[in-house]
Amino acid sequence: MKRVLSGMQASGKLHLGNLVGALANWVRLQNEYECYYFVADWHALTAGYSNASAIKESTMDLLVNFLSAGLDPQKSTIFLQSWVPEHAELHLILSMITPLGWLERVPTYKEKKEELDQLDLGTYGFLGYPVLQSADILIYKANHVPVGIDQLPHLEITREIARRFNYFYGEVLPEPEGLLTEFPKVPGVDGRKMSKSYGNAIYLSDTPEVVDQKIRTMMTDPARKLRKDTGNPEICPVYHLHKIFSSKEEQDWSAQGCRTAGIGCIECKKVLIKNVFAVLEPIWLKRKEYLANPSYLLDVVREGSRRASKAAGETLLDVRKAMGFGL
Ligand code: TRP
Ligand code: SF4
Repeated sequence: MKRVLSGMQASGKLHLGNLVGALANWVRLQNEYECYYFVADWHALTAGYSNASAIKESTMDLLVNFLSAGLDPQKSTIFLQSWVPEHAELHLILSMITPLGWLERVPTYKEKKEELDQLDLGTYGFLGYPVLQSADILIYKANHVPVGIDQLPHLEITREIARRFNYFYGEVLPEPEGLLTEFPKVPGVDGRKMSKSYGNAIYLSDTPEVVDQKIRTMMTDPARKLRKDTGNPEICPVYHLHKIFSSKEEQDWSAQGCRTAGIGCIECKKVLIKNVFAVLEPIWLKRKEYLANPSYLLDVVREGSRRASKAAGETLLDVRKAMGFGL
């Protein structure tokens, strides 16, 4: 069976965009592949090193949501990066062969550095973010990595690093392929891409009241100032969420009602709220159970990390042998 691996950085809570863009896909892949899914808590250090104690909370939020959204520890290996220290050894080795120029050219490096200009990101670790990610992937000899488009440059550098390793030391590390989700970008309540850094996200940990409130006050087509004003659904983030969460009939009803002023925005949003609730309600129920039982959660991660460590250790043996380490 082919191997799938993916991770999420533990820097913030999981939101609807992460759910439909990534996690829901991870859940589907569980039946077709041998899956490894993890929380990248070391990656959270690259930009969050000055507030390391905050990482724990994000880690717990991600783990609870992984299980609540349907990742099944019987099917997938669910683990914590920092509990599988084999990643660090491969990261060290890969760092020796990775040219600085490759890292400086990764688009997310410059972008993030400029975006987060209040942080000092002139560190070795931040520049090395993609090397750590490469180690995460290559240590499982993963065939497929389900990621969003924004992660493609990291996957490309992973393939380059694998090629360079294999060129120096022999064919040990297979080049992974991306598995792109074709999901449209999920807009946040202000119409921009949903992102924790924009403050426009709907979180899985939000209460029903908060989700209701966030959608009710969502931005709409500004042309619809009055109930009788017609609108253009294509420029309305509410309509874009309908496209993700509502039935075809409801989408048509919304688009048609918007263009003709046949419906009001509150009416339109109420249908969306109903459909978002239908997705979130089962997750809320499970979140409650898992939050009430943290020791179960820890058992899952302990067992997953142990399994991951075993698989990672096998690759490390191959790596050491190929390089002439260990007798
Ligand atoms: N960079 C990913 C993110 O932003 C997290 C990540 C770390 C990852 N290592 C990975 C994703 C390996 C896929 C494979 O969330
Ligand atoms: Fe948006 Fe619906 Fe209002 Fe049209 S009717 S502007 S789609 S909320």
